[in-house]
Amino acid sequence: MDKQPRAGISRRHFLGSGMVLLGGGLLAGPTFAQPGCAVTQGDILGPYYRFGAPFQSRLAGPEEPGERLLVSGTVFSSDCRTPIPNALVEIWQANGAGLYDTETPGNYTDKGNFHLRGMLYTDAQGKYRIETVMPGRYPVPPNLPGLEKYGGLMRPAHIHFRVMESLHVPVTLQLYFKGDPFIAGDPWAHERTTNIIELEQDGELRRGLFDIVLARGFG
Ligand SMILES: [Fe+2]
Repeated sequence: MDKQPRAGISRRHFLGSGMVLLGGGLLAGPTFAQPGCAVTQGDILGPYYRFGAPFQSRLAGPEEPGERLLVSGTVFSSDCRTPIPNALVEIWQANGAGLYDTETPGNYTDKGNFHLRGMLYTDAQGKYRIETVMPGRYPVPPNLPGLEKYGGLMRPAHIHFRVMESLHVPVTLQLYFKGDPFIAGDPWAHERTTNIIELEQDGELRRGLFDIVLARGFG
């Protein structure tokens, strides 16, 4: 099992095991960050987050229009190798036509049907897995406070994540897909290289592997 965090096609490589022999005993030594080991980059929450999504990892059933998408991965600590069990992962996204289940920006406490939204805990190995459909692209709404100059800009396809665990710094991010022509001109996506993955086509299913690395919250 490859436990190195992956985003896109690049694999992160590590030197040494971080373990040293001292006085005949095996002790955990300092873990040196290697090139390619990076904490997952944060991103804006966006206007369509809503609190209180149901615990579910299957966001879309067979009736949901769109291409089937399966995203899985591991949540790691900042050494990129220690899995984090019981991390809370929240996911929300637009449907295949680029529409959220709310059209009201900033309506975070709305109690609706939570369509294409869910949350889950990572398992004992820090793993998560979501079943959904490919999100559609959508333009930034016009006259959104603070985003006026981006009104009408077509966003690349993305899935929002919010990940938290008690001893780490929470991260909010958007997951993007390599090859999307709208990444380059997007003010959020284009520099967030840890958050762009490549998808494999497996019959009618697309699969993506997305590992998330949280900053440890203390020394
Ligand atoms: Fe979004």
